Amino acid sequence: MVPGASTGLVALLGDPVAHSISPAMQNAAFRTAGLDLVYLAFRVPAEELGAAVAGLRALGAVGANVTVPHKVAVLQWLDELSPEARLLGAVNTVVREKGRLVGHNTDAYGFRRALEEGLGRLPRTAVIAGAGGAARAAALELARAGAARLTVVNRTPERGQALVEEVRRHFPGCRAEALPLGVEMAEALRGAELLVNATSVGMWPHSEEPPLLDPDWLPPGLVVCDLVYNPRETALIRAARARGLPTVTGEQMLLYQGARAFELWTGQPAPVEEMRRALLEALAAWPGARERG
Ligand code: ATR
Repeated sequence: MVPGASTGLVALLGDPVAHSISPAMQNAAFRTAGLDLVYLAFRVPAEELGAAVAGLRALGAVGANVTVPHKVAVLQWLDELSPEARLLGAVNTVVREKGRLVGHNTDAYGFRRALEEGLGRLPRTAVIAGAGGAARAAALELARAGAARLTVVNRTPERGQALVEEVRRHFPGCRAEALPLGVEMAEALRGAELLVNATSVGMWPHSEEPPLLDPDWLPPGLVVCDLVYNPRETALIRAARARGLPTVTGEQMLLYQGARAFELWTGQPAPVEEMRRALLEALAAWPGARERG
């Protein structure tokens, strides 16, 4: 649909946004659903975030996505938060509801759907590498879904410990512990069903930097999930596949967080297959994708 005088706006606020996949994915979804909406990416520096959110209000935008580095800072400008956004203390989706801006977080949902699709179930025991925003979403979502044991491994041990304490505070039934990055991981992995890489290790343009772990530490039967989606097949996913282990890749999480956001903005089921096609096409054109095909 060609944008016209009544076209609704969905904005992406982030910095940088130039390589974002979301415009391709969401515009394909709007087109498929025959909706008179357009999704545009705006590079917003941190000091302009408040003004950008005020702009969404003034322009009557239908909603927005919020990405790095604004997912936490944006909270202060919103009128209301969903329970998930409150739990995670981070917002990636904003929906205008009766003139109020409501913050949601669809990252945890995307992670859970990707795991359910890849595994058919959610694991009871997991090792999570990382302690940033992505790791928080993964750890809290697994604990919320009933995980009995979580191990957080992180380069900076204090950040790992802080995440573990947060998991314990919200979910006392989940046994959570922190470990430094290193050989201690091998032991934790032997007792786990799932490994999640929620660090930026393996991400283009540093794809060939030292790996997160020695592939020999991956035990038979372990499911390996990498939240990095550029490149689509990270060194970790390659190592897991070489061992015949089941894998869940980052673009699946990207797809489902986007599908959920679409549903929140439009109140309609997301055209997931069209979104997947647009996402894979956009990822294939990315810097980094060409290096490894
Ligand atoms: P996000 O919010 O996207 O998760 P982040 O908060 O910057 O991003 O977190 C990045 C994660 O990757 C952190 O856990 C970071 O470890 P530190 O807490 O020690 O910084 C981890 N990370 C980044 N580069 C790494 C590297 N080369 N080796 C190991 N861990 C790394």
